[in-house]
Amino acid sequence: MIDHKIGNQRADELLQKLTLEEKIGMIHGAQLFQTAGVERLGIPPLKMSDGPMGVRQEFMPSSWKPIGHSDDFVTYLPCNSALASTWNRKIAYDIGSVLGEEARARGKDIILAPGVNIKRSPLCGRNFEYFSEDPYLTGELAAAYIQGVQLWDVAACVKHFAANNQETERLWVDVEVDEEALREIYFPAFYDAVKKGGVYTVMGAYNKVCGEHGCQSEFLLNEVLRKEWGFDGVVISDWGGVHDTEAAANSQLDIEMSVTDDFDDYFMARPLLEKIKSGEISEDTVDQKVKRILLLMFRLHMLEAEGCVSTVPRKSGAYNTPEHRQKALEAARESIVLLKNEKQRLPLKQEKQRRILLVGENAQQLHANGGGSAEIKALYEISPLMGLKSRLGGNAEIAYARGYCGSAENPQEQQETNWQEKSLENGGGSQGNTQENRSADLAEKRRMLREEAVRLAAEYETVIFVGGLDHTYDCEGNDRTDMVLPYEQDLLIQRLLEVRSDLIIVLLAGSPVQMRDWIDKADTVVWSWYAGMEGGNALADVLLGRVNPSGKLPESFYKTHTDCSAHAVGTFAEKKTVSYREGCEVGYRYLDKYQIEPEFCFGHGLSYTTFAYSDARLDDEKQRVVCTVENTGDYDGSEVVQVYVRREGAKLFQELKGFVKVFVKAGEKTEAAVVIDGMEKMRGEGVIYCVGSSSRDIRLMIKSC
Ligand code: BGC
Repeated sequence: MIDHKIGNQRADELLQKLTLEEKIGMIHGAQLFQTAGVERLGIPPLKMSDGPMGVRQEFMPSSWKPIGHSDDFVTYLPCNSALASTWNRKIAYDIGSVLGEEARARGKDIILAPGVNIKRSPLCGRNFEYFSEDPYLTGELAAAYIQGVQLWDVAACVKHFAANNQETERLWVDVEVDEEALREIYFPAFYDAVKKGGVYTVMGAYNKVCGEHGCQSEFLLNEVLRKEWGFDGVVISDWGGVHDTEAAANSQLDIEMSVTDDFDDYFMARPLLEKIKSGEISEDTVDQKVKRILLLMFRLHMLEAEGCVSTVPRKSGAYNTPEHRQKALEAARESIVLLKNEKQRLPLKQEKQRRILLVGENAQQLHANGGGSAEIKALYEISPLMGLKSRLGGNAEIAYARGYCGSAENPQEQQETNWQEKSLENGGGSQGNTQENRSADLAEKRRMLREEAVRLAAEYETVIFVGGLDHTYDCEGNDRTDMVLPYEQDLLIQRLLEVRSDLIIVLLAGSPVQMRDWIDKADTVVWSWYAGMEGGNALADVLLGRVNPSGKLPESFYKTHTDCSAHAVGTFAEKKTVSYREGCEVGYRYLDKYQIEPEFCFGHGLSYTTFAYSDARLDDEKQRVVCTVENTGDYDGSEVVQVYVRREGAKLFQELKGFVKVFVKAGEKTEAAVVIDGMEKMRGEGVIYCVGSSSRDIRLMIKSC
């Protein structure tokens, strides 16, 4: 890293040499994903790309038409919900590092990730891009991820600051939320991104918070981000998130980006130039922005600082390497959550697997190329069907029955131009089962597919259903209207369970779905997120016991969405204003306080082995809770030791304050040391540390003195 003092001095010198027009060029998009550079002074443009699951395909400079060359295929990484499900900081770091290295190799300076918005409702269409309902889990993993990205002389861009928790009318909706909830729930992950992750750039949110648009907010950007947190990096608008020249210029926003090609007419382009020339806005506002951009360029080694002996050449990166695919596989394996395994049907005994039937579209559906700006042009994607076939080989017969079908015949179809071109014309909406195409033809087709699957199910030794959601539902600009499984899957699962009580159910989605129609009859349920290019292999590894599952839910799986506080207490998917009346009672914080049973609780996830906890003690000096974890079963495995804090007289029942993932061989023990967030501050507050395997499976408690 370049000496900050030298960078600062050099930035000031450069600033002196820049004309007003050149400076204005640097603070707004000159292409859809690029600002203007200043060639005569050797200042390059800033090149950006989405997004969390890999580096996005290349678009034409000023139209949303994909360039369509063969050099922008990339490693497709597990989505952030999958990463959160690993509860493993090292995995988050490794995946961030793959993303950073690939972004650099694709010539990018800023990668528009990670998304760290809190999952306030299970219906938000972008939840798959986000980590968790819990601020601590989100912040810990996002910070590690950011450090991984930035290792490669590429800036991460943490988004969308702040309270961007629904897609309905996302461009305009005003979030009414009290300051306590902002500070306790919606800010901490951004704070951790800045303070622990050292993030270089932040993206503002489209929505308003208490009347102010995120991208030009005095409160969010100036008071909180700059003044309180001391953020000196670059703030970028969401694409089309700026609404007013004066407000944007005077705010702490540095770069305005948008989706339209009238780059000179952006609020911080010619309109700003004119207002500065006429004296309405001070040139100083632009200088501050440009200075921060120049400092960012020094941080990324994009500019050489004269007189700085230690200047190191910029890293060049690499993409689509075997190592990256291996990292994607490891992350996918750790992200799978074993929700239920009542009769220990899993793992499948490989030698007994001669004839398997896979039912359901998600067994063969590819998901990379969907979801909105997080879409990926994947080098390849292993489906569950391919994963199982390639793992079991030619001695097993693996049949496939579609079982149900989505409403779009070919959702993967590549469109000429991207949906994003028109993304400012419609603020975002909701769609769900109610709007789904329910024509008589479709109903008949599904009936036939269902009958065929049920008939075949009786003929095979093992039947695995692979269903869930797809990016028609888990999608930017779209919230679901309920948690019901689409495409009549509930009916199919029930019919399959009637003929096969030993049915293995695998659900693959970016957000939880309602299971109450059949969950009591199902013994075996496995959860996988959009798990990247190696997702199918990872799933096969878990089903076959080559990998012992260790994923834990990073969010509450409600029985139905109305059990979630955003719906029960606050409002969600409203058009003009949404009210976060639930305050801090988000996710398990609400369920635990009011003793509402979820289908599966926050932190839940089974293993093929069992773990016993003992000897919990406080290590005050190192601010840790320490305990012994013994693997009491037959499989080697990893356990996530979670520490929840309960306080006398507190408004909330308990909150996650620490976790660690430990690997323990069968029959062995290990010591788990969990660093507790803010332990020092909690001294003498009547705190109880609850150590457990999930938020509702607390094994040990220790009182602090
Ligand atoms: C999304 C951002 C994304 C940007 C650029 C917007 O629609 O909200 O997350 O980074 O587009 O594609």
